[in-house]
Amino acid sequence: MKNICKLICVVALVSSSSGWAAGGGPLFEMHVDVHHQKSLQRGAKTFVNYCLSCHSASFSRYNRVAADLGISEKNMRENMMFTGRKFGDTMTVALTVDQGKEWFGAPPPDLSVKARSRGANWIYSYLKSFYIDESAIRGVNNLQFPGTSMPHVLWEYQGLQKLAAKDDHHDAHDDGHGNSHASPFEIEVPGKLTPKGYDAMIVDLVNFLVYMGEPAQLKRQGIGVAVLFFLAFLGVFVYFMKRDYWKDIH
Ligand code: HEC
Repeated sequence: MKNICKLICVVALVSSSSGWAAGGGPLFEMHVDVHHQKSLQRGAKTFVNYCLSCHSASFSRYNRVAADLGISEKNMRENMMFTGRKFGDTMTVALTVDQGKEWFGAPPPDLSVKARSRGANWIYSYLKSFYIDESAIRGVNNLQFPGTSMPHVLWEYQGLQKLAAKDDHHDAHDDGHGNSHASPFEIEVPGKLTPKGYDAMIVDLVNFLVYMGEPAQLKRQGIGVAVLFFLAFLGVFVYFMKRDYWKDIH
């Protein structure tokens, strides 16, 4: 009997998560800056505290993240690692795929390279697009990913928003290029942060996800600058060498 109940619950969860039409809300744009170390540090903190409980990032190791982002080992161990984890461990979670399916209807995917497959703007928009929907199993739905099984884990910060009536779009803003975008949402229950504060929080988080997708990009720019210096030096050297070789010929 218990198993039948479980089965019904799981079927209800799965069907509820695929019951919405495939959709897509407005794609909000953000400026990615993986060289902003403080932003990456804040993003990493949000990630380990609010995402790593369900999602793993199995291509990243705590010690590599600490070294790349200028986080001390002590700070990492005390504030960003679950007890029992080692500094050299990968950022995995105990949740199995089966448990993920059973509890959420869909397993939370690994987020190591998600920013590369979905793109930064998509994830940024996804985290901004949860809204109250009484018909959804968790009471919230997502305009970017309709029927998502993920709960709105950052609701305390953003608050809860609802869809604004079509001709009543609030929060219109200019994107700096003369285009005015009206938000399809309006805040119903304010969160701990203002809308701007929440945007800043998820910009940091997505910055961190973009860094995780390709950690080498932090070093690449440094190498590029070194190569340019070398070429400039070589150019001067070759020029004087050429002058020296040709001086008797003219
Ligand atoms: C309570 C568990 C849980 C937490 C915590 C959680 N998620 Fe999720 N997340 C899920 C589940 C389940 C899905 C799968 C949704 C689906 O396929 O319907 C998901 C899906 C996603 C996706 C979409 C992936 C894709 O392309 O299909 C992204 C991006 C994501 N989560 C980011 C985050 C971030 C960033 C955080 C931290 C702020 C976070 N999640 C915290 C459960 C969670």
